[in-house]
Amino acid sequence: MKSILELLSDRVRAAIARVGVEGDPQIQASQDEKFGDYQSNAAMGLAKKLARNPREVAEAIVEKLEIDDLCERPEIAGPGFINFRLKPSFLARSLQSIATADDLDTDRVGLPPTEKPEVIVVDLSSPNLAKEMHVGHLRSTVIGDCVARVLEFQGHTVHRENHVGDWGTQFGMLLAHLRRVRPEVVDRPSELVIRDLESFYIEAKTRFDADEKFKEESRETVVALQRGDATTRRIWKAFCDESLRHCHEIYARLGVRLIDRGESYYNEGMNEVVRRLEKLRDSGRIDAVRDSDGALCVFLDGFTTREGQPLPLMVRKSDGGFNYATSDLATILDRVETLKATRIVYVVGLAQKQHFEMLFAAARKVGWVGPDVCLEHLGFGNMLSKAGTPFKTREGGTVKLKDLLDEAVARARRVVEEQSPEEGRVQRSFTPQQVDAIAETVGLAAVKYFDLSHSMTSDYRFDLDTMLAMEGNTAPYMLYAYARIRSIGRKAGVDFRELPSAVPILLDHPSEIALAKKLLQFADAIEVVGRELRPNVLTDYLYDLAKAFSRFYDKKLGVRVIDATPESVRTSRLRLCDIAARVLRLGLRLLGIDTIEQM
Ligand code: ARG
Repeated sequence: MKSILELLSDRVRAAIARVGVEGDPQIQASQDEKFGDYQSNAAMGLAKKLARNPREVAEAIVEKLEIDDLCERPEIAGPGFINFRLKPSFLARSLQSIATADDLDTDRVGLPPTEKPEVIVVDLSSPNLAKEMHVGHLRSTVIGDCVARVLEFQGHTVHRENHVGDWGTQFGMLLAHLRRVRPEVVDRPSELVIRDLESFYIEAKTRFDADEKFKEESRETVVALQRGDATTRRIWKAFCDESLRHCHEIYARLGVRLIDRGESYYNEGMNEVVRRLEKLRDSGRIDAVRDSDGALCVFLDGFTTREGQPLPLMVRKSDGGFNYATSDLATILDRVETLKATRIVYVVGLAQKQHFEMLFAAARKVGWVGPDVCLEHLGFGNMLSKAGTPFKTREGGTVKLKDLLDEAVARARRVVEEQSPEEGRVQRSFTPQQVDAIAETVGLAAVKYFDLSHSMTSDYRFDLDTMLAMEGNTAPYMLYAYARIRSIGRKAGVDFRELPSAVPILLDHPSEIALAKKLLQFADAIEVVGRELRPNVLTDYLYDLAKAFSRFYDKKLGVRVIDATPESVRTSRLRLCDIAARVLRLGLRLLGIDTIEQM
């Protein structure tokens, strides 16, 4: 089943062609119900092209439209908008075609995979291994996981790459320190355990700042590491493995899968980058590649320093060393040439906006990335404290991600314990293990949902009270909405899986029609998120769906369900409940959130 957006786009595109031109149908959901469910803004642009009046063009398009099976007769409004109102019979038919699901974990709620699967790289999380993961890494991990899940659901091949910082000068200091305080690491690297990476870093740094001899030793260690000295490499690997182990504890807890592709993975690739650029420079074919003060650079149009001087992307420093740009160019070569990716998404904070703009421009300029490959920096804003200040511990240090998650889970536990019992039911009794599991799910869900529900580019304030509220666009509300629908099945004494698929869906009451529409718009939401990579489109959709369901199930505003008569109406409504629960569950899963059957 195609999304409604796609269906309408196909029909309108065909009508435009019949008018004798070519043009984008420009379909979008209407902001206001008064104007129907969807609108096309195509006529305005086409009118310019044809030098005709936009309303006339709109009329000509409507004239040629074959759309009776989907919509009422389209209406033309304002300067030339075409408004569409979906027919309940179309909604009913579409919902009816969604089969019941035996296995909720693999359920697609009737959505087929894309006909044009791509190979996509999602570069996510990517902390620096020198330190413990801190709150700053939450967004990249959670947003990256969500977009990867949506793209995978759509049927693309997704490489989730964790581009950790595991190379560079600060490792000299860390390894030199490690060798001094844990000399046994040389012989038994696999036994290395560093309980607290953060204080280990601070110890090393303190020694570095105070001790000239140690500084020199650190420098020599970097050189040895880069030269490939076997012992230094062994210590380095032990340290990175240990740091990654800390990271993967968090990934496992968050349910995030990824593969580690740190900077060091591209060591050979970086040499290749420089070799190729030197060749370009020497060939004189691309004037953009040249030396500047001894450094190898790519000069790009439109990038200047504050003083108005050209600002090039430096790929090899004048001392011969490589930098962030070198390794990122190497990742691009690998992703395009080896993985054959046609879309590469970098989920990295907005602070690195210029780095990516220059990187992408350079990769295209030197011809390594053609027009068939899409490079996207998915930049996000900062997570701030509740007071709106940078997120710090009371002592001014960085907050460990693990501590933040622990706190959210502890607070969620209190919410779960205080939560009043489900309406009309006796006090639930959960075992302590169940309470633990629910608190963990709700706490992590709250943190993720809150993060994903904000527009990605703005900063947001981390506020546990708001994210754990039972009302509003929050995870607890969504989880509760899901559990509540599932409980309807139990109360009605039916197993949703066993509802006959073949029974007609009957849509009559406005709340029923509104719910049906929302359910079918799931495909639209997925399509938009897959294209624009904006998770908040999905959270907004799910919130609207939960509200539409509430209204449908409301004693006054909605319809009867469990005690509806006749049986055909009851079954149809229970089918709507089933589909609603499944869409909520799938939608939350695509956000990286597990549902709970009872809450
Ligand atoms: N490790 C980097 C940092 O902490 C982020 C890497 C993002 N990915 C990339 N391909 N540059 O800033």
